[in-house]
Amino acid sequence: MTASRPFRVIQWATGAVGTEMVRTIIDHRPDIELVGARVYSEDKAGIDVGTLVDRTPIGVTATTDVDEILSLDADLVLYAPSFTNLDDVCALLESGKNVATPSFLFHPRRIPADDREKLAAACTKGDSTIHGGGLNPGNLSGVLPLALSGMSRTIDRITLQERADWTLWESTAITFDGMWFGRPTEEVTPTANTYLSFLTRLFVEQTWFLSDSLNGDIDDVSVNLETVPATKDLQIFDHVVEAGTTAGQRWSFRGQRNGETLIEFETLWTVGGEYPEHWPKPRDGWTLTIEGDPSMQTHFFPLASFTRDASIEEHVRAGLITVAMQVVNAIPAVCAAPAGFATMADLPLIRCYTGFGNT
Ligand SMILES: NC(=O)c1ccc[n+]([C@@H]2O[C@H](COP(=O)([O-])OP(=O)(O)OC[C@H]3O[C@@H](n4cnc5c(N)ncnc54)[C@H](OP(=O)(O)O)[C@@H]3O)[C@@H](O)[C@H]2O)c1
Repeated sequence: MTASRPFRVIQWATGAVGTEMVRTIIDHRPDIELVGARVYSEDKAGIDVGTLVDRTPIGVTATTDVDEILSLDADLVLYAPSFTNLDDVCALLESGKNVATPSFLFHPRRIPADDREKLAAACTKGDSTIHGGGLNPGNLSGVLPLALSGMSRTIDRITLQERADWTLWESTAITFDGMWFGRPTEEVTPTANTYLSFLTRLFVEQTWFLSDSLNGDIDDVSVNLETVPATKDLQIFDHVVEAGTTAGQRWSFRGQRNGETLIEFETLWTVGGEYPEHWPKPRDGWTLTIEGDPSMQTHFFPLASFTRDASIEEHVRAGLITVAMQVVNAIPAVCAAPAGFATMADLPLIRCYTGFGNT
């Protein structure tokens, strides 16, 4: 990649995160040229991707045709669908396109061997690179703990606790079809459907990522999920979560060595503002704690602004922007990386391209 021409990038899916990726490229990234957009919705097909994200047309028509996307000459695909498809990703890599994604592949070393070999072969064939990044999984579960660990002499335990209410998160396909909020509590288990199994694997991989990156040598990752019922009917966008069905999910992923927990990811996820009395009550957002020599704690909470008034929707969107930016800002590093897997531990520190904007 030379600096003489922009990175040629394809947007794969224009949901909540994908929309922020496209807006960023249009508004802030002269070094990136959007050359294609793959959509799933027939309603979006044939429409200019600029129009799809509330910008002026940019001359790139969204398509549902994967062959059309594969035939494009592009440096990288921003792969942000709700549900991932390994065959699609391998086809992109084989066609010589790098892939950066918030959706999966945060620790390739610990994914099923068949999948890893398939992806690695596709990278070899296409001389291409794939990178998974985002917020959590992503920066907060990978980059930040490693960055903080640079100030540690020794580490005993790392805990990342996430408290979030999903009520205003627009991606209701994930909330309801994926996470099964609104289903009977006993039906919602770590492997109850494809998405929940997928999510479970992602966080198990994250646990291994920290262990493998920090000499944890854990021998097991346990997974626990407690579901809690809604105390009343809840209206979430066009869905009703009926009283008694799932309105809270407390997940815990514990990486253990000889029965001792070294790493824990805990999520306290709710809809409709339901919050059971017996749950711990950290601040909203993410609290990362490293017990060791020395012990340290940091809290992360993205907002649209800490100084000006912003709507609640804008504040919610701030989280999506962090996910999108961690991936978009990685584009130059992914394109420069050797073929194969480029993890958060492999890439240089990803920083804001635009920064203060005085380029
Ligand atoms: N790592 C992190 O921190 C993090 C945080 C948030 C989200 N994510 C991940 O980022 C990805 C995008 O999230 P999002 O919030 O943008 O989701 P979303 O709003 O639900 O949008 C995803 C898009 O996927 C497309 N889609 C529709 N049906 C599909 C299907 N059957 N299979 C595959 N894709 C389909 C649609 O694209 P079109 O609208 O273009 O048709 C949809 O808009 C997800 O994989 C999510 O898990 C990661």
